[in-house]
Amino acid sequence: MDPFVFFGGKGGVGKTTVSSAYAHRCAREGVDTLLVSTDPAHSTADVFDQSFSDDPTPVDGYDALEVMEIDPEEAVDEHLLGIKRQLGDQVSPAIVNEIDRQIELAHQTPGAHEAALFDRFIDVMRDADHDRVVFDTSPTGGTLRLLSLPEYLGGWIDRLLEKRESSVDLYEKAAIGNREPRRTALGDPIIARLRDRKENFEFAGETLREDASFYLVANPDELSVRETRRAVDSLADRDLSVAGLVVNRLTPEPDPDENGRGARFLRDRVETERERLAELESSFDPPVVATIETRVSEVKGDLLDEVAAELDVPVDAPA
Ligand SMILES: Nc1ncnc2c1ncn2[C@@H]1O[C@H](COP(=O)(O)OP(=O)(O)O)[C@@H](O)[C@H]1O
Ligand SMILES: [Mg+2]
Repeated sequence: MDPFVFFGGKGGVGKTTVSSAYAHRCAREGVDTLLVSTDPAHSTADVFDQSFSDDPTPVDGYDALEVMEIDPEEAVDEHLLGIKRQLGDQVSPAIVNEIDRQIELAHQTPGAHEAALFDRFIDVMRDADHDRVVFDTSPTGGTLRLLSLPEYLGGWIDRLLEKRESSVDLYEKAAIGNREPRRTALGDPIIARLRDRKENFEFAGETLREDASFYLVANPDELSVRETRRAVDSLADRDLSVAGLVVNRLTPEPDPDENGRGARFLRDRVETERERLAELESSFDPPVVATIETRVSEVKGDLLDEVAAELDVPVDAPA
């Protein structure tokens, strides 16, 4: 099994539940496991009844399980501060002001959270010293588009280098007016930063294609089926294939001799869900690797064992 395993899907379908159950099972089998959560609601804390932070923290009662929670808001701050620091001491004060303004704006950009999170994922994959890293959420849509960045940046950097002399000169003039440009080699640190970035996304693309498995969590309803189709397609657009679908929150069937109003309702509900499940099984390439019934209460403690046992997802340590 690959070292990196992602569980994706829309909010509320059961990503945290399923990835926690999977990480739990990996750890119980003796695989040194890190569970990475990005949920601002800190739901891994509820599952394991323990608080976590940005640093991998051992989970009580386990020998081989650690959890880290990445706060998306903080990730954006760090991401933007990093850019600011790197550029700040390379450019003239006029440009620093402009950078500040752009950074303020970037905070409100819809893709900022996704991009910053993706950067953190890349860091985690780079620094990984666990046998398995389980991500509670997979890159989708906007984030995946970043994987095309290397190709895009590649050509751009080359063109930039060619034009370096003149463009740098113009850039400085634009910022400080017609006074003597202070630094004509300005292009170098920025180009270096772009090269770093390009290399980072190349690494991400390669790692995701070669060392990662993607699973999508779905519920047996129309909206979720549609959403799952979109996710499978957007991953396929980046040459990333989905290893399996986890169908969560199936309604349990009442006993045949029960015929009260509640039992009739459940039976009808089960019927509807069977149709959705049949669609997930027949019209998708990735196989359904688990069907998990809705439990009476939230999935934690002993229930984790039960849910984990229903996942037909390999746990063996990577070679
Ligand atoms: N099979 C299930 N049975 C009972 N409760 C469930 C089940 N799956 C998820 N839940 C509960 O539903 C809520 C949302 O699940 P969660 O895993 O946090 O979703 P996500 O991470 O996709 O937003 C949580 O309270 C969780 O305990
Ligand atoms: Mg969650």
